[in-house]
Amino acid sequence: MSSLPPPEFNERLADILAISQRMNSQRDLSALLDLIAREATSLLSCERASIFLLDRERNELSSKVALGSDEILRFDARRGIAGNTALTGNTINVRDAYSDPRFYTAIDDKTGYRTRNVLAVAVRNQHAEIIGAFEVLNKRSGAFSARDEESLSALASHAAIAVETAQLIGELRRNQDELTQQNAHLWREVENRYAAHGIIGTGQRMQQIVRLVERIRDSVVNVLITGESGTGKELAAKALHYNSPRVRKPFVALNCAALPETLLESELFGIEKGVATGVNSRVGQFQKADGGTLFLDEIGDLSLTAQAKILRVLEERVVERVGGRNSISVDVRILAATNKDLETEIAKGNFREDLYYRIKVIHVHMPPLREMREEIPLLANHFLREYCRETARGAMELAPEVMRKLVSAPWPGNVRQLRNEIMRLAACSRLNVIQEEDLWEGIPSPGRDQAPVQPVKLQSLKSAVAEMEQRMIAEALQATRSNQQQAARLLGLSRQGLINKMKRYAIAG
Ligand SMILES: Nc1ncnc2c1ncn2[C@@H]1O[C@H](COP(=O)(O)OP(=O)(O)OP(=O)(O)O)[C@@H](O)[C@H]1O
Ligand SMILES: [Mg+2]
Repeated sequence: MSSLPPPEFNERLADILAISQRMNSQRDLSALLDLIAREATSLLSCERASIFLLDRERNELSSKVALGSDEILRFDARRGIAGNTALTGNTINVRDAYSDPRFYTAIDDKTGYRTRNVLAVAVRNQHAEIIGAFEVLNKRSGAFSARDEESLSALASHAAIAVETAQLIGELRRNQDELTQQNAHLWREVENRYAAHGIIGTGQRMQQIVRLVERIRDSVVNVLITGESGTGKELAAKALHYNSPRVRKPFVALNCAALPETLLESELFGIEKGVATGVNSRVGQFQKADGGTLFLDEIGDLSLTAQAKILRVLEERVVERVGGRNSISVDVRILAATNKDLETEIAKGNFREDLYYRIKVIHVHMPPLREMREEIPLLANHFLREYCRETARGAMELAPEVMRKLVSAPWPGNVRQLRNEIMRLAACSRLNVIQEEDLWEGIPSPGRDQAPVQPVKLQSLKSAVAEMEQRMIAEALQATRSNQQQAARLLGLSRQGLINKMKRYAIAG
């Protein structure tokens, strides 16, 4: 008749299983070693516990100096009780440490701790190879028993698995970090090679713009920059100014759309003191930009009166302050930008043709981002690095599927929208690699560029859900060429669940 194990045996077994579960959920090696040590001291009612890991190449054991510390103690595996266990695989249970010749007193000397008794068991991995030793010190009362030996061995075999997993994950993380750094470095090199004056882009269209900026760097001709909102018109204007002979003179930007008609003249040309009560004299923007560049942003929004006044300054190169009697000569290069089609505005009578030709000596058109999707990875990485630099964060990168989505999104707000989205993703992501789940749900899918946002119709939730279900089922069936098994998987349904819904909505298979 086999005898039943004593009840305390079952209790310990249950404790060991619970500890093992806790160990398996700890992925960080240092925290795991702390956890194992804490659990072992309480399970075996002793003062201290440590795991020593064996480095076979160097014949060294290493262990943490203390709970919560990251300092590592390394010593020759041929010395001491833990070393002996790690090299031979033998369990060693010593009642009086100082009377045992294998005991290595130097560790007590170093830590100031006084060891009375020691129990050490080997830690083996799944292939029964010894990866270290598990040692407990100073049983709270008496010495370690045979049952303690069994418990520690059981705990050691669970710990081995958790330790190896944590080591592996640590190694993967380190490799990942290294790759991330290398990747960031490569991107930086690509960018340095191609970026000129802050305009990023290696494709033909961007490079044409960059080359144009370089070609006209020695001249001060007026340039008209067109393009949709967020395509980099102001960036191009700055590149033109800062690469021109006027670089050390002011760059003055003026948003024409924000100028009320009544203030226009005084803003552009200045005002003399005392024109009205309490008015102080003020220098106008033309004069501020003297010798430099005046950037007339949103020039398409200027009124016809304002256009006439500006044209006069460009022709005569003089300004008159409001209330002033003298002409002040100014030397200003005009860079103008608009997202309107000025030729259409001319045809409609909203824009003066003569002004148009005066500002459009050279025309630069900034293409919308959807026409230069090949630039998206470079731009995205550039903005990501900018974020990391500004926030002093370590290098980050975008998971390949995130990049794919970014490349195919429609980007109605162009590069500015891409920049904002990258900043948001980087700020929200806790990991170094930005994952798909961090993506903004609002990243519109490709092919819906111009689709106007449908206002939400008032309808019952039920019918809205039904509508959505039908659409998703139809799309899944189309995507899988009516393979019901695959379509169900895509939708997260069982095949029968899908069939039921198809019947309900009368969708043909
Ligand atoms: N090719 C590019 N390389 C790097 N950054 C870019 C590029 N194009 C645009 N940007 C960035 O996108 C943002 C928007 O650019 P910018 O303000 O020049 O656009 P814009 O055409 O003047 O827009 P809006 O018409 O709305 O005024 C800026 O942060 C700018 O630095
Ligand atoms: Mg702008």
